[in-house]
Formats: sequence, structure tokens, C-alpha cells
Amino acid sequence: MLSEQERKEIEAHSRHYPNNRSACIEALKIVQRYRGWVSDEGIKDVADVLQMTPAELEGIATFYNMIFRKPVGRHVILLCDSVSCWIMGYERMRGHLHARLGIGLGETSADGCFTLLPNVCLGACDHAPVMMIGDTLHQDLDPARLDEIIDWHAKHFFLQEEKKEKKEAADGNTSDP
Ligand code: FES
Repeated sequence: MLSEQERKEIEAHSRHYPNNRSACIEALKIVQRYRGWVSDEGIKDVADVLQMTPAELEGIATFYNMIFRKPVGRHVILLCDSVSCWIMGYERMRGHLHARLGIGLGETSADGCFTLLPNVCLGACDHAPVMMIGDTLHQDLDPARLDEIIDWHAKHFFLQEEKKEKKEAADGNTSDP
């Protein structure tokens, strides 16, 4: 079931579009922002709000590769595998990420921090090889730069996890008699 916040945001967004169908990618992005991915139940719930069939929405969600239909890690690495990046070192970057994170394409690291996915051209071919994490494009990659980027994201992930655990522990404590 959608949270009240998700529903409100979807309804607010859909008012800016000429029809509900045009609003559906944004609606799915809203759900994904809160949950990390969009489940079958999420598709059905969004379809209800937008008065579409789940099949229609599913078709659009599947076509748009930035909507994740399976659980992903906190950070999704989209590694460009199109021609310029391929020529400029894609395989080396993929190999380095595999060695560093212990995952191949389509996989998520054991700690849940990273998912690695292949992606078509990210539009920065003159700075190949390129990858994207969240909204940030990382260009002119080499193994040292990859390590810096991975370290930065991993550090923030663990800090957030630590904060979450402390909060959960504190919430648990306050509910104790
Ligand atoms: S080929 Fe990789 S950004 Fe264009």
C-alpha cells in the first residue's frame, strides 16, 4: 500500500501533466525514492492512483531502465558499456569493480551497498569511461578514481546504517517499560 506521503506526491505531480499516463514515470520514481525499487504491489498501487491498468504501467516501467523492478543496493552503479567507453577501458573498469566489490553485472554487494548494472551511452563519450551513481556522472574513470568514488559512497552508507541502527535501538529503548 502506498504511504500517505507517496500518494500525496504522486497526486501533486500528476496535476502538472496533461494526462495520467504522462505522469507515470515520475510517479514510479517517487515510489522508488522511498523504497529503493518498485515491487509488483507498488506497480498496482500506482496504477490505481493514476487510473491505469497494472499491465499498462508495467509496460512503461519495464521499458524505462531507471525504474528498478527488483531490490537493489543503496547505490546503483550504472556503468556505460557503449562504444566509446568500451574502447576507453570499460572492461578494465568492470573488472576493477568486480574485484573491489565482489559483484558482477546485475549483482548487489553482500552488504547491500552497491548494485552494478550495465547501461547504454550516458552522453559523455568524450570523457569515457563513464559511470553514474544516483544523479552524479563520473567521468574519465581509472581504477584509482573508481576507488575514491567507491570509498566515498561506502563511507556514507556505513555512517547512515550506523545512524539507523542507533535510532532503532533508541526507539526500542524508549518503548521499554
Ligand atoms: S559511450 Fe559511454 S558515455 Fe557515451
